[in-house]
Amino acid sequence: MSAARVPCRWLVVVCAVLSLVPSIALAQQAQQTQQPGFKPEYGQAGKDVVWVPTAHALVEKMLDLAKVTPNDYLIDLGSGDGPIVIGAAKRGVRALGIEYNPDMVELSKRNAEAAGVADKATFMKADIFETDFSKATVITMFLLPQLNLKLRPQLLDLKPGTRIVSNTFTMDDWSPDDTARAAEECETWCLALLWIVPAKVAGTWKMPNGELTLTQQFQMLSGSLTGTNGPLTVENGKMKGTEIEFGVNGVRYRGTVNGDSMSGTFDDASGKPQPWKAERVK
Ligand SMILES: C[S@@+](CC[C@H](N)C(=O)[O-])C[C@H]1O[C@@H](n2cnc3c(N)ncnc32)[C@H](O)[C@@H]1O
Repeated sequence: MSAARVPCRWLVVVCAVLSLVPSIALAQQAQQTQQPGFKPEYGQAGKDVVWVPTAHALVEKMLDLAKVTPNDYLIDLGSGDGPIVIGAAKRGVRALGIEYNPDMVELSKRNAEAAGVADKATFMKADIFETDFSKATVITMFLLPQLNLKLRPQLLDLKPGTRIVSNTFTMDDWSPDDTARAAEECETWCLALLWIVPAKVAGTWKMPNGELTLTQQFQMLSGSLTGTNGPLTVENGKMKGTEIEFGVNGVRYRGTVNGDSMSGTFDDASGKPQPWKAERVK
C-alpha cells in the first residue's frame, strides 16, 4: 500500500502513538532513577556482572587484608548496595562507590545515612570502565575474572603501593601478594585476595659494585649484576609496592625505590647491615 492511500484515521492513530513515545521514555527513565522502595534481588542483572553482596565477615577480612587506615581513600568498583564502602567508612576511611545501577546508588546512599557514615561514604552512578579511579589508595572489587583482567592495565598503573583487594576472583597470571578467608559467618564467596601495585623497576641500574639489570613480571624480579666477578644472577627478587628485595651471590639486598633511584641495606659477611644504592641508567 502506497503512503498516499493510507486511510486518514490510521494516520491519526500513528501520530497519537508517536506522541506518546517521549513520555513513555521519560517515565522509564524516572522509574530507573526513582524507586524509593527499591529492593535488590540476589543475582539480579547488572551492566557487566550481576549483583551479589559481599558478606559482612568478608568485608572485614578485605579491609583487614588491605590494612586500611583513616589516611586511605578507598574506591569500590561496582559498589552494589554499599557494604564495602560503608564498612570502610565505619573505620574512618573516606570511601567512594562507583555503581552503574542508579537504584543501587540511591539505596547505598540511604544505607550510608542509616549507618551514620554519609559524611565518609559517597556513591556515584558511573561505569567503572569509563571512570578515573587513580586517586584511590585502596581499590576493592567483587566482579569477575575477565573484568579484573580488563581492568588490570589500569590497576598496574596506579601509584606504587596502592592495595587492590578482590572478593574471590583472581587477576590471571598476576599472583596475589596475600589472601585471607572468612571462615565464619560466610557461606559463599569467602576468599579475599590482595595485590600491592609494584613500582616499575625493569631496566638497568648503576650500583657501586656493578650494573644491575632487572626484568620484571608484575611483582617478581629476575636479572643479573655485572661487576668485577662477571654476571651474577639475581635470585628471588620481589617488589612489594615501593619495597624491593633481591639476592645476589648469597647476599640479600633490601631497599626502597623512589623513582629513578633506590637504596637500602644488605648484611655483610659478619651480619652487619651496610648501605647500598642504585641509580637508573635506562
Ligand atoms: C557482585 S556485585 C558487588 C557489589 C559490592 N561491591 C559488594 O561487594 O557487595 C557487582 C556490582 O557491580 C555493578 N556493576 C556491573 N557492571 C558495572 C559497571 N560497568 N560499572 C559500574 N558498576 C557495575 C552491579 O550492578 C553490581 O551491583
